[in-house]
Amino acid sequence: MDVLVINGPNLNTLGTREPDIYGATTLAVIEAGLVAQGAAAGLDVDTFQSNHEGAIVDRLHAASMDGTRFVIINPGAFTHTSIAIRDAFAAVALPFCEVHISNVHAREAFRQHSYLSDVAVGVMAGFGVFGYTMAMDFVIDRLKED
Ligand code: DQA
Repeated sequence: MDVLVINGPNLNTLGTREPDIYGATTLAVIEAGLVAQGAAAGLDVDTFQSNHEGAIVDRLHAASMDGTRFVIINPGAFTHTSIAIRDAFAAVALPFCEVHISNVHAREAFRQHSYLSDVAVGVMAGFGVFGYTMAMDFVIDRLKED
């Protein structure tokens, strides 16, 4: 495994969830695209979605032992609440990009703080699902240097 793509709560409902904000693309389509994008660059990509904070922490712990070299994460609402996910990234010392489909900085005040952004390599927000593609492009380039 080279790249792990994690999606947090409610992102399994993409496609029908508030399409005016999140668009019409399903998570399955996003994940398949990222797996293909990685494969074209010779990288193995795994995907994981959970609505449960502890399950995401557990998956990050497992990532430290399965050869994962980089994580792309849309933590959903856990972005704004989860010290546990922040601590998990510190515990496993894996680099990650934070992705948000919407521009969280242009939304409610509670979405404008992230527990992850200051420890992320980079943050994408507001580019729709294209943000995942851009993050993967970056990761492909970064991993070529290793
Ligand atoms: C989100 C933004 C979060 O504030 C929200 O809770 C989500 C999705 C995004 O992709 O824009 O679930 O991370």
